[in-house]
Amino acid sequence: MSYILAFESSCDDTSVAVLDTDYRIYANLISSQPQHLEFGGVLPELASRLHMQNILKLCELSLEKAELELDDISAIAVSINPGLIGSLIVGLSFAKSLAWAKSVPLITVNHLLSHIFANYIDHPGLHAPFLALVVSGGHTEMIHFRRETEFEVVGKTLDDAAGETFDKAAKLMGLGFPGGPILDKLAHNGDPDFVRFPRALAQKDNFNFSYSGVKTAIRSYLHNQSTDFIQKHQADIAASIQAAIVDPLIDKSVRIARQLQLKCILLAGGVAANSALRTKLSQKAEHYGIHVYYPSLQLCMDNAAMVAAAAIPKYKAGLFSPLDVNAFSQKGTKLL
Ligand code: KG4
Ligand code: ZN
Repeated sequence: MSYILAFESSCDDTSVAVLDTDYRIYANLISSQPQHLEFGGVLPELASRLHMQNILKLCELSLEKAELELDDISAIAVSINPGLIGSLIVGLSFAKSLAWAKSVPLITVNHLLSHIFANYIDHPGLHAPFLALVVSGGHTEMIHFRRETEFEVVGKTLDDAAGETFDKAAKLMGLGFPGGPILDKLAHNGDPDFVRFPRALAQKDNFNFSYSGVKTAIRSYLHNQSTDFIQKHQADIAASIQAAIVDPLIDKSVRIARQLQLKCILLAGGVAANSALRTKLSQKAEHYGIHVYYPSLQLCMDNAAMVAAAAIPKYKAGLFSPLDVNAFSQKGTKLL
């Protein structure tokens, strides 16, 4: 059996995992950084320093939990883009030094794509071709995977991301952060047709998304209502906002999956936790014989098990990185 030791440090979670090449998890430890809370956002320099403090201990604990030695490891995996550059460099430098010291291959992966491969852990037997719908705070993309190591972006947002829109709307309603889970919960008891917010780029042949118009429409709607009214109709407004954000995701992903004759859609990213998106997308896709997969909630958040999962197809294909590879912060799915 071959084992992969994986590292994730792209933002404010340090994580180290051990998986075998059948996607079985032996350890997946995460150390989050509450130190940023008092600043109201992630401080990049502080994040890098905390990754440096945590990574060695987490690595030791992961191997201990997996009941393995470094000598049992067949390859080292690490996410190198996108993310905070200082944070990425900590994980990459650590991974490189282990790969060099133990003379094992280094496998570098894209953090965003690794969210997709979390599905491979939860749903054994999954394989390409498939459509991936990646929806997070910073990204909204549809990606066609012909093979696990060969993909093409077939649609993406032209402006704001879906998660960002949830967060902004919740903020405008005076709710907390992150807004997605709060609106999701409120929307359970609301009427999605209470307010009809616009759905941008609704033309049948358009597979891109746009959320800036929806954001403006939400802002001006809320601006014109009294605080009492918003308070009283919180659930209905939340459900209407949620529908405006998730409807285009559902329509476009099912439409392009049908056009490309794909039989499965893999959901990934923080917004994949949204209950309306999960249920409505599954129902609509199922109607056309397309099955929707999403990761378990604990694998939806940043973790190193998903980094290992994205590295496994590359390990099997012998797609390794040289030890002088660099991390980069650029958004998107440029590199697997
Ligand atoms: O992938 P992710 O954890 O991280 C980044 O993008 O950095 O995604 C975070 C986003 C936030 O915008 C949050 O509001 C959204 O995912 N989110 C949700 C839900 N849970 C998290 N959005 C809608 N419904 C949810 N249940
Ligand atoms: Zn992430």
